[in-house]
Amino acid sequence: MRVLLAGGAGYVGAHTAIALIEAGHEAVLLDDLTNTSGLVTERIARITGGRAPLVAGSAAHVDDVERAFAEHGPFDSIMHFAAKKAVGESVEKPLDYYANNLDTTYALLRVGIANGIRSFIFSSTGTVYSDPADLPFTEEATRNLVDLSNPYSKSKLMNEVVLADVQKVNPGLNITLLRYFNPVGAHESGLVGEDPKGTPNNLMPFVARVAVGALPEVGIFGDDYDTPDGTGQRDYIHVVDLAEGHVAALEKAQPGLAAYNLGTGIPVSVRELVASFERAVGHELPKSVKPRRAGDLAATYCDPSKAEHELGWKATRTLDDMTRDVWNWQQKNPGGYEG
Ligand code: UFG
Repeated sequence: MRVLLAGGAGYVGAHTAIALIEAGHEAVLLDDLTNTSGLVTERIARITGGRAPLVAGSAAHVDDVERAFAEHGPFDSIMHFAAKKAVGESVEKPLDYYANNLDTTYALLRVGIANGIRSFIFSSTGTVYSDPADLPFTEEATRNLVDLSNPYSKSKLMNEVVLADVQKVNPGLNITLLRYFNPVGAHESGLVGEDPKGTPNNLMPFVARVAVGALPEVGIFGDDYDTPDGTGQRDYIHVVDLAEGHVAALEKAQPGLAAYNLGTGIPVSVRELVASFERAVGHELPKSVKPRRAGDLAATYCDPSKAEHELGWKATRTLDDMTRDVWNWQQKNPGGYEG
């Protein structure tokens, strides 16, 4: 199938483009390159031996989406990765988050539906679940907008509401909501990986920067949570598993609305993740316990069984696979794509 990947030059989009090409599909990237590099397309070509053409433009602009269709359409499917995703920044700049994260969806839907797409696969988040009492989260777990702590998560849940309403009046269209847990890892080639601008906020890229000596020490944000070792637990998923989840969703798409958790279902603590990274590097990393970070939950993890039953997809890569691949990517690209 032919797929337009909005935000396709970003971290999850690029890995999904690779997985699509390797599964025999065609991938076209639409990206404004505000949070990634145009060099990604050359890396994708090196890995796959195939091309993923890049249209430089904004998924929030109807004109740019129409240009992607005119130059490279028709498309069977749109995958929508084009979002702002920094939780802390979203609290500071709510309008930027609501505008970008919804305008992209409106433009992609308007143009996509007018051009006869059959499926729309949306990057949602495990942070749409609002009640820790529901752990592990199934797809039916409580999603209460006013209980979500930040505009990023709210913008994703608002998107889900919009998409459900649009699907109702387009009964032949598949809309798939993929609720990601914590994507980490990199392509095993070390050619494609996460390239955050500035000091990373998320744990895995932060640990990687400490491991290459670019940052002095890992801060463990709280060791007094009600978890087995006192540090926060998350459901980390290898980005290549996540990418393969998109391919499965595309291939299994039927008319209607469906939501799937994409995670491993295994809670991993901050200390466990750091210990795995230390195994990958071969020595201990400097670390110390800091106060809790505002807004953090003790634990989030999912029940991923619906995706296994309905999509035939299951994450297979281990925590040690994730840290090994991040370390490989970080060593080969100490300054990211642009070096
Ligand atoms: N943590 C540290 N030290 C750090 C960074 C994080 O101890 O330097 C801890 C956090 O307290 C948390 C865990 O590591 O317990 C994971 O934190 P991340 O920032 O990596 O991930 P979050 O679960 O906070 O964020 C995730 C995704 C985001 C998503 C967000 C929504 O990574 O992309 O959920 O809340 F937007």
